[in-house]
Amino acid sequence: PRKLFSGIQPTGDVHLGNYLGAVKQWVDLQDNEHLILSVVDLHALTLPQDPKELSENILKMTATLLACGIDISKSILFQQSQVYQHTELAWNLSCICTMARLSHLPQFKEKSAALKDVPLGLYIYPVLQAADILLYKATHVPVGDDQLQHLELSQDLARMFNRRYGTTFPLPHALVSGEGTAKIKSLRNPLKKMSKSDPDAKNRICLTDTPDEIVKKIRKSVTDFTSKITFEPEERPGVSNLVMIHSSLSGKTTEDIVKEVEGLDTLQYKSLVADCIIAFTSPISQRIKELMEDPDYLRNILAVGTEKATEIAAGTMEEVKSKLGIRLLS
Ligand code: TYM
Repeated sequence: PRKLFSGIQPTGDVHLGNYLGAVKQWVDLQDNEHLILSVVDLHALTLPQDPKELSENILKMTATLLACGIDISKSILFQQSQVYQHTELAWNLSCICTMARLSHLPQFKEKSAALKDVPLGLYIYPVLQAADILLYKATHVPVGDDQLQHLELSQDLARMFNRRYGTTFPLPHALVSGEGTAKIKSLRNPLKKMSKSDPDAKNRICLTDTPDEIVKKIRKSVTDFTSKITFEPEERPGVSNLVMIHSSLSGKTTEDIVKEVEGLDTLQYKSLVADCIIAFTSPISQRIKELMEDPDYLRNILAVGTEKATEIAAGTMEEVKSKLGIRLLS
């Protein structure tokens, strides 16, 4: 059977890119698969965070995943830093990973370019990600397009460990949503991905945005000078991104949508897309608010997850330590 692991950083509100590229897949997969999900707070620490905000965000991410339909009777949901084996395995893997292998990764290049002093943690970020995955011997990792390079590194490290110390880890494969939602584009620049870290909040729509904000962001989204609505991601990335979002939230195909809205101009279509997004996000946003009123409940959910995750992680670490020669019990 397949074993699925994925993670999300508690660094801000979940946007439609995160939702369509990752969270929706998780919700759909959890019925028939063994799914482990982590709120990866240690990854968030690779860039400066306000401590109070970070701890709020960990609970908010938990609330958001529950509001989106993650069901802890089916999946394991936990806070990464509470399962100490993540840092432990990350160290072990950092001793087999070469510096050259990390320096070429595009996310490191992007994020470090803006910094005067580059934290070591940012550099070894993908090694911690590999540890997350390998700790549970995951075979598949449901993620958006931007994580593929990190997944390749996880595979490489699994291969290197297995070769040096004997077969231990299955090679983890990326599971990217097939319907073209693996890369939802920025509303301000449809050649870039929608992203949490973009300083311009108008690039993204968050599940918690108010209807008013959603209408404004969609109205201001960058399209082109053709008013007809078509789905041509290469030629017309802006309008096609709206059709893609509309299609995946409504469950209709892009062809059906294009047919349905024939005759509408871009402005009219934008208002239709905004309505569709609002109808989708309003109940989720409401549910997040309700859940946030009961932090004890959320903490308890995470505690249950910590316990389940630790059980698996501790088993793997016993095996890893014996293989490395640092476990001295008979
Ligand atoms: P993070 O927190 O940046 O994003 C969470 C998930 O959302 C996906 N995503 C998108 N998908 C489609 N279109 C977009 N515009 C878009 N933006 C983000 C991401 O691909 C991701 O699946 N390094 C990871 C977290 C992580 C992890 C792991 C993932 C840590 N350990 C182990 C998998 C397995 C990250 O920063 O995701």
